[in-house]
Amino acid sequence: MTTLTPVLSAHWDEADSFTIAGYKRHGGYKAAAKALKMEPDAVIQLVKDSGLRGRGGAGFPTGMKWGFIPQGDNKDHYLVVNADESEPGTCKDMPLLMANPHVLVEGVIIAAYAIRAKYAFIYIRGEVAHVARRLQQAIEDAYAAGYLGKNVFKSGTDIELVLHVGAGAYICGEETALLDSLEGFRGQPRLRPPFPAIAGLYARPTVVNNVESIASVPAIVANGPEWFQGMGTEKSKGMTLYSLSGHVTNPGQFEAPLGITLREILELAGGVREGHQLKFWTPGGSSTPLFTADQLDTPLDYEGVAAAGSMLGTKALQIFDETTCVVRAVLRWTEFYKHESCGKCTPCREGTWWLVQILRDLENGKGTAADLDKLLDLCDNILGRSFCALGDGATSPITSSIKHFRDEYIAHVTSAGCPFDSHASTLFASAKVGA
Ligand SMILES: Cc1cc2nc3c(=O)[nH]c(=O)nc-3n(C[C@H](O)[C@H](O)[C@H](O)COP(=O)(O)O)c2cc1C
Ligand code: SF4
Repeated sequence: MTTLTPVLSAHWDEADSFTIAGYKRHGGYKAAAKALKMEPDAVIQLVKDSGLRGRGGAGFPTGMKWGFIPQGDNKDHYLVVNADESEPGTCKDMPLLMANPHVLVEGVIIAAYAIRAKYAFIYIRGEVAHVARRLQQAIEDAYAAGYLGKNVFKSGTDIELVLHVGAGAYICGEETALLDSLEGFRGQPRLRPPFPAIAGLYARPTVVNNVESIASVPAIVANGPEWFQGMGTEKSKGMTLYSLSGHVTNPGQFEAPLGITLREILELAGGVREGHQLKFWTPGGSSTPLFTADQLDTPLDYEGVAAAGSMLGTKALQIFDETTCVVRAVLRWTEFYKHESCGKCTPCREGTWWLVQILRDLENGKGTAADLDKLLDLCDNILGRSFCALGDGATSPITSSIKHFRDEYIAHVTSAGCPFDSHASTLFASAKVGA
């Protein structure tokens, strides 16, 4: 079995893991001191060599993104950390920030130095007041220690870091909507090009990275790119946080090399809750196509999950056992996407509304067999025709659940309602999962 590789989570069980003293006891801020003695371009090269890919969902190579920032352009550059984390099931960045906020602050110092940014921002979702307070304290402690502000680490470099608390909108996690929101506008995605690397925050070259991406950088600088490359698979390097939630014995964060399988993680987590069986799961949050028990041995890296027909996304492994009605679960997610649609483009704004109406009808016994085709047709008109990936993501649970569980949808029509609401239906569910 692949063992766990705790790096970001190595000291979460220590009482003072979130303090500057606790962080420094394990070598904290030494990587930043080391990086500030290197040339900025050498830091970018080091991150490129490590093979680190963005942990925000798309897996874009982090060093390459930093390398897109034009140099010698006499413009301000900005680093923006995306801590909006609002996708259903995704829950890695907030625990990381609660337990170890300084690893992000240190990553920000290194990244800002590398891309020659004097100003960095962390955009955090509005609902997590306790996480924001802890992070703010960490930033203040780093200022007091001389790690942020003027002449950081007495290196001659200035780095200012501002924590911005959002108002609680999933769309503000989309990087260009985030930038609009940070500038004080309504958070809606921007037309690209220009990409943020050319015209981002305040129309200046900007890098937007996920919390976990930036937090992974200090360990890479401290231990070297070969160390990072030693974990993971050919094209998906390093360790990462897998978030296991739902019907499992021990849910939580499992930091492991990319390429581990759900079967292995479930063994570490004590399995699906006692007396129950796995019915379906998401590999990367609610916007990634569902998997079933047949995909338990899929390598959880970018290539492995894509080859099996889904996306690694944010590695949010949501586990559902045979007591879950797939139509009801999909309805709940779709209600979320409808609510969070920013309304800028018609396919997503109108389409998610109609998807909810049809799924509600099916769940409430007012559906017909033709509704399945209607759902698929609507998804076809949203996917690839929406302005941003929220619309595409809204279709994934629907199309994948109809693919795997068409019989269960049909049973909602033939039983004139959710078959899970009666005793007979529990038998139906068990029979289907066992089939
Ligand atoms: C609707 C939507 C919500 C998103 N939410 C987040 C988020 O909360 N955190 C995040 O890092 N990326 C989120 N993303 C992806 C970002 O647009 C962007 O790709 C990411 O921050 C880049 O970071 P990375 O290169 O380090 O992965 C979201 C994308 C979409 C379309
Ligand atoms: S796809 Fe949805 S969230 Fe994205 S721009 Fe269009 S309406 Fe807004």
